[in-house]
Amino acid sequence: MSKPGDAAAEPADRNFVVVASRLPVDRVDRLGGGQEWRPSPGGLVTALEPVMRDAGGAWIGWSGDAGPAPGAFEADGLHLVGLALSEAEVRYFYEGFCNATLWPLYHDVIAPPQFHRRWWEAYVTVNRRFAQAAAEQAAPGATVWVHDYQLQLVPRMLREQRDDVRIGFFNHIPFPGYEIFAQLPWRGQVVEGLLGADLLGFQRRADATNFLRACRRAVGLTTKGSTVRVDDPGGTREVQAAAFPISIDAAGLTEIARRDDVRKRAREIRQALGEPAMVLLGVDRLDYTKGILHRLRAYGELLHEGRLGPRVVLVQVASPSRERVEAYRTLRDEVEVTVGRINGQYGEVGYSPVHYLHQSYPREEMAALYLAADVMLVTPLRDGMNLVAKEYVATRYDEGGTLVLSEFTGAADELAGAFLVNPHDIEGLKNAIVRAATASPAEARRRMRSMRRRVREHDVARWAADFLDTLRREPSSSQPAGEPEIS
Ligand code: G6P
Repeated sequence: MSKPGDAAAEPADRNFVVVASRLPVDRVDRLGGGQEWRPSPGGLVTALEPVMRDAGGAWIGWSGDAGPAPGAFEADGLHLVGLALSEAEVRYFYEGFCNATLWPLYHDVIAPPQFHRRWWEAYVTVNRRFAQAAAEQAAPGATVWVHDYQLQLVPRMLREQRDDVRIGFFNHIPFPGYEIFAQLPWRGQVVEGLLGADLLGFQRRADATNFLRACRRAVGLTTKGSTVRVDDPGGTREVQAAAFPISIDAAGLTEIARRDDVRKRAREIRQALGEPAMVLLGVDRLDYTKGILHRLRAYGELLHEGRLGPRVVLVQVASPSRERVEAYRTLRDEVEVTVGRINGQYGEVGYSPVHYLHQSYPREEMAALYLAADVMLVTPLRDGMNLVAKEYVATRYDEGGTLVLSEFTGAADELAGAFLVNPHDIEGLKNAIVRAATASPAEARRRMRSMRRRVREHDVARWAADFLDTLRREPSSSQPAGEPEIS
């Protein structure tokens, strides 16, 4: 790993530049003093790492703390450019506008979004910093791929400096219906910011449709099929908005799951749980969009009714997330009270019905957990995609295990072999868990096989290739001829 240096002193020679709010590494304190970079867990990192390696590009992102800017450095063979956020920017940009305004707004206002002008100002300032860094890294004619809701103004800001580069943007989270999006006091600026891109990717068709509607309603533009006509000072451009459902490194995960040490660990996990009759598993960031409380409520009622039989165990991994944001603190308290209540009520000496783990684990341990499960519970109230569902499927090379999946996830569009549920419907959720838990081995295998085929054929490499091929194609070739114009 080379020493972090001054990013601005670098030549603009990168043909492929990823701009994401986070670097794919975390700065951690070494035991003996000093600091080092460790690969960080998370959907986006898991998704893009293999693509970055192949392309040899640059990755611009934030290190995750309010420390000094790391600048440019090499880590694990990746060229990284780390940007700084001040303590105030962490509060106003990251915890504020990103995670207490946009996150709840884009997830169907499950929690009430807060609108503060000071947060918006920080969002503009930080987006400008990212755009500037991208303009400094990109070679003439380079491809720049901007990611997610934290950086929606970057495409426009970058285009204003560098109209020679090809700009793609991918939104990892849902794009809300216009009635919800319209609440945002800066809705016009956000749409204009995104329209600086040549191609806008969304998880589901419904997200792309919602965005196209926002173009018509918030800024009065005309759309035709999946394209928007944008009048720039330099001329008229066609911007395309379409669905590109993200995926995972399916082959890599399958390989990990097949390892002897991982399979052994899966057996150890079941032993450590006391060889239960059945293991249910939940794996989420501790986030109110994930439906953890709904899941616990359904599980508690099933225990009360005895419908899952004796000695059933739920392992709930809830990795720490955004812990200084109020809604997340409240959620943690509620989850921990609920877990305590269920264990107090239905546990015995030597038996706890819920094993709650407020921690993050490396990939190998996650694979072992997935292998140890009989039923995986993925029950978000709203989720752009949900890569956990796909990871579980990719891990189950044994074609064992069943999946209960919320219909409000992007993954539900693809994983037809899952037991689909509306997590708000507690009776329906309970029935789906029972059906998944009691499916015959033949039915479970048939369902898992179809889901595995889907995830194997539509992996992260194909996702990135589809997006980048479309981005690099001439705009005219994406124009649907027969589509009517809508304004
Ligand atoms: C979601 C978002 C990502 C984000 C991740 C972790 O997956 O789509 O953009 O990085 O959550 O959240 P954090 O706030 O820790 O970056």
